Amino acid sequence: MDFNVEKVPARTIYNLLIGLVAPRPIALITSMNEDGRLNAAPFSAYNYLCTDPPVVGIGVMNKPGEHFVPKDTARNIRRTGQFVVNVVTEDLLQQMNVCATDFPEDVDELDMAGLTTTPSTNVKVPRIAQAHAALECVEHATIEIGRSRIILGRVVGIYVEDQFIDPAGPYVKSEDLHAIGRMNGLGSYVKTRDAFVTLPRISYEDWKKGTR
Ligand SMILES: Cc1cc2nc3c(=O)[nH]c(=O)nc-3n(C[C@H](O)[C@H](O)[C@H](O)COP(=O)(O)O)c2cc1C
Repeated sequence: MDFNVEKVPARTIYNLLIGLVAPRPIALITSMNEDGRLNAAPFSAYNYLCTDPPVVGIGVMNKPGEHFVPKDTARNIRRTGQFVVNVVTEDLLQQMNVCATDFPEDVDELDMAGLTTTPSTNVKVPRIAQAHAALECVEHATIEIGRSRIILGRVVGIYVEDQFIDPAGPYVKSEDLHAIGRMNGLGSYVKTRDAFVTLPRISYEDWKKGTR
C-alpha cells in the first residue's frame, strides 16, 4: 500500500511510523518543574544523535486536543533545562508502562509504579534508583514543529551499574543489560535477552581476500 501523508489522518501516519521505525529504545525520562515536583514518563521517539558532543534527541507530541498544551516532560525541560534518561530494561517494563498513564497532575507516577529515585551526579533531577543505566542531560534546544517538540539534550553524565561494564573497552555488556525495544502503538515490545547476533565489521582488506 502507498500512503500519501498529505491525505491520510495524523493517526495513520503515527501508526505507520511507529511500526516501521522499530525496534526503538525507550527513554524513561525524569524531569522536574520549577517547584521541584518530579515527573516520569516514557518516550520511544528517542535516540542518541551524535557522540562528539554527546547529544540525544526526543520527540514529544503535545497533549491530545485542540490546544497546544505540551506534555509535562517537555514543559519541565523547557522551564528547568535538565532531565535524566533512565534506560528501560526487561525488569522495568511494567513500571515504565505505569509511568505512561495520564494521572492527574498531583499524582506521582514513580510512586504509582513502585519506583524510587536517587540523586544524579551532574544534574539536579534524580535518576530512577532501579534503573541500571541513565544519561544525565541538559537541554541544548527545544524545536517546536507543529504539534510536537523535538528536544535535543546534551549528555553531561553517564551512569552504568558496574556489573554492566566490560572494562576492556569500556563497553556496555548489552547481552546482560536486557534492554527493551518498542515495536508499535499496540503495546508490542521486544526483549533482547538471548537475541543477539554478532556481526563484526569487514575491513576492505578482508573483503578483498574474500574473508567474511
Ligand atoms: C513505551 C512508550 C513510549 C512512548 N513514547 C512517546 C514518545 O516518543 N512521544 C510522546 O509524545 N509520547 C510517548 N509516549 C506517551 C507518553 O509517555 C505519555 O503521553 C505520558 O503520559 C506523558 O507524560 P508527561 O505529560 O508526564 O510528560 C509513550 C508511551 C509509551 C508507553
